[in-house]
Amino acid sequence: MAQALELKLATLSDACQIGLMSRELIEYGLPWSWDEARVARQIRRPDTTVLIARMEARLVGFAIMRFFDDSAHLNLLAVDAGCRRQGVGRRLLEWLEKSARVAGTFFVSLEVRASNQGARVFYQQLGYTEILSIPNYYCGLETAIRMTRDLRRRRLLTP
Ligand SMILES: CC(C)(COP(=O)(O)OP(=O)(O)OC[C@H]1O[C@@H](n2cnc3c(N)ncnc32)[C@H](O)[C@@H]1OP(=O)(O)O)[C@@H](O)C(=O)NCCC(=O)NCCS
Repeated sequence: MAQALELKLATLSDACQIGLMSRELIEYGLPWSWDEARVARQIRRPDTTVLIARMEARLVGFAIMRFFDDSAHLNLLAVDAGCRRQGVGRRLLEWLEKSARVAGTFFVSLEVRASNQGARVFYQQLGYTEILSIPNYYCGLETAIRMTRDLRRRRLLTP
């Protein structure tokens, strides 16, 4: 990676940009649900981590994970289109997985849009398995694929 990447917890001043990135990069074609107010609520929640990635002070990615007693759920993850395939998404997810492990939480789940082939491959590469297809999950407009990973199981390396 050419430029230094910094990962840190989001503050309320990041909520607006995270919301805008969510609308553009994740919720395109769907009603906008992760707006600034909703992201700000996640930043305030004690059971949720909102992590951001900065390059040269610019916010280039974020991830939101909620922690339950025995599991964690990845709500959102996105990387700026100009900064992809440089390991930013991997770093964000691995940071959150490490937090989960430290908390003794090993089961992670997420949903991804069925049409989002790039993200599905990304998650598979990071050790996630597609376990369920949920029709109409996204406002009746698109199917979701639920993916899970048991962090105690080693990731199979693919070429
Ligand atoms: C999915 C996403 C977060 C990946 O972020 P990223 O920073 O580009 O991912 P990484 O560089 O860490 O990729 C790690 C590995 O995953 C795989 N991968 C990532 N994106 C891929 C794609 N579009 N197609 C195929 N494989 C992909 C590759 O194996 C990659 O390793 P490599 O680049 O050495 O081959 C990013 O594409 C994104 O923000 N997409 C739009 C939002 C989104 O779909 N979010 C997920 C659903 S909420």
